[in-house]
Amino acid sequence: MARIAVIGTGYVGLTTGACFAHLGHDVVCADIDEAKVASLRAGEIPIVERNLDRFVHEGIASGKLSFVVGAAEASKDCEFHYLCVPTPQGADGAADLSFLETAAAQIAPVLPTGSVVVNKSTVPVGSTGLVASVMGRNDVEVVSNPEFLREGSAIDDFLNPDRVVIGARDQEAAIRVAGLYSRVRAPVMVTDPISAETIKYASNAFLASKLSFVNAIANLCEAVGADVNDVVLGMGYDKRIGKEFLRPGPGWGGSCFPKDTIALAKIAEDAGYEFSFLREVLKVNDEQFDRTAAKVIAALGDDPSSKQVACWGLTFKAGTDDLRQSPAIEVMKRVAASGVSIRAYDPVISGPLADLPDAEIVSDPYAATDGAAVLVVLTEWDEFRWLDFDKVAGNMASTTVVDARNLLDRTQLERRGFDYRGIGR
Ligand code: UDX
Repeated sequence: MARIAVIGTGYVGLTTGACFAHLGHDVVCADIDEAKVASLRAGEIPIVERNLDRFVHEGIASGKLSFVVGAAEASKDCEFHYLCVPTPQGADGAADLSFLETAAAQIAPVLPTGSVVVNKSTVPVGSTGLVASVMGRNDVEVVSNPEFLREGSAIDDFLNPDRVVIGARDQEAAIRVAGLYSRVRAPVMVTDPISAETIKYASNAFLASKLSFVNAIANLCEAVGADVNDVVLGMGYDKRIGKEFLRPGPGWGGSCFPKDTIALAKIAEDAGYEFSFLREVLKVNDEQFDRTAAKVIAALGDDPSSKQVACWGLTFKAGTDDLRQSPAIEVMKRVAASGVSIRAYDPVISGPLADLPDAEIVSDPYAATDGAAVLVVLTEWDEFRWLDFDKVAGNMASTTVVDARNLLDRTQLERRGFDYRGIGR
C-alpha cells in the first residue's frame, strides 16, 4: 500500500482521496483553505455527493485518511502526489493553470526522490510537461491520470471505472501508478501524456456532442411530429450508439462539459486546427437554453410580466448541489428577462441566488406552484415524479407544465387536465 498526497479537496480531490483510502492506501489530502480542512477533519463534507460522507468517515476512523493545510505539508513524506486543483476557464476560453502551477511550485522542494506526481485535474494537452518544467526535478516523474467522475456517482465511478488511463513517458512510473488501482477491476491503458490528456477532453467533448445531437433530434421530432423518447429508445438498441447519454433536456451544463468543450476548441485553434464542429455543438446547446425558455414564455401567453412561473429544479442535474453552468439557471435567466415572477424549488438549494436575484427560492415544491400560470421542470430529481398533482393543479392559476426533462408521466397529467409540453414529443 502506498502513501499518497492529494492536493486540492474539491469534488475530484476529495473523491480520489476517500477512494484511495478505501482501497487501503495511506492518504493525506491538502487544501489551502484552513476552515475547510478543519471541517473535513471533523468529518463534515462540503458537497452533496452520494456515499462520500461514509467513505470520508471510514477513512478518518481507520487512520488511512487525513487532512492538512498546504500542499507541501502533504507531499513531504509521500510517494505519489495527485494534483486535483481547479482549472477554471480563463478569459480566452483556455483553461487557467495558475492553481496547477502554484501547487507544482509548492511541492517541488519537498518531493522525496523517486516519487511520482500525477495530474488528475483536467489540463490542456501538454500540461504534464508544464508541471515537470515548473518543478524542475529530474528525479521525479510526472504522469497524467485523468478522471472520468460524474458528480452524484463519483465514488462508484472511481471504484468501478470503465477504464483507467495513464499517460507517462516512463514505463516504470506508469506501472507504479497502475499498481495503485490493483484492487479496481477495469482495463488499464498506458499511453503517452499528451494522448492521455487528449483522451479526457475528447471523451467529454464527445459526450457533449452526443447530447447536442440528441437535443437537435428532439427539436426535429417536434417539427415532424415524432416522439423523441421512442426515437432514442430505438437508436439506443444499436450497440454502436448505446443507450447512455441519450436523454434530451433543456441543454447540458455542469462544471466540466461547457468548460472542457470550449477549452478543446481553443486547444485545437492554438494547434492550428479549426474544430468548427465543436463550435456548432456549443451553439446548439445555447440555442437549447433559448428554445426551452421560449417554450415557457409562450406557455405564459399574453403579458408574462403579470404572471407567475413555478420552477422545479435548479442544480445542473439531479444528485448534486452544484449550480455551476446549470441549464436550469440558464433557462430561468432567459425566462426572468420577460418580466415574469419566479418561485423556484430544488431539494438541495436554498436561496437567494446571485444569478436569479429576483426569484423567490422556496423550501416546498407545492409552495412554488401557488398561483403559477406555468410549472417548468428543469432538473430530473426523481421525487418530482411522485408529488400530488391534484394538489399542484389546485394551487396553480392555470395548469400548464413545461417538462424540460421529460420526467413526469404525461398520461397521468393529461388525465388530471394539465396542458403538458415536453421536449421533442
Ligand atoms: C461529466 C462527465 O460525465 C465525467 O465523465 C467528467 O469527468 C466530468 O464531467 P458531470 O459534469 O458530473 O460529469 O455530469 P454528467 O452526468 O456527465 O452530465 C452533464 C450534463 O449533461 C448535465 O447537465 C446533465 O443533465 C446533462 N445530461 C446528461 C443530459 O441532458 N442527458 C443525458 O442523457 C445525460
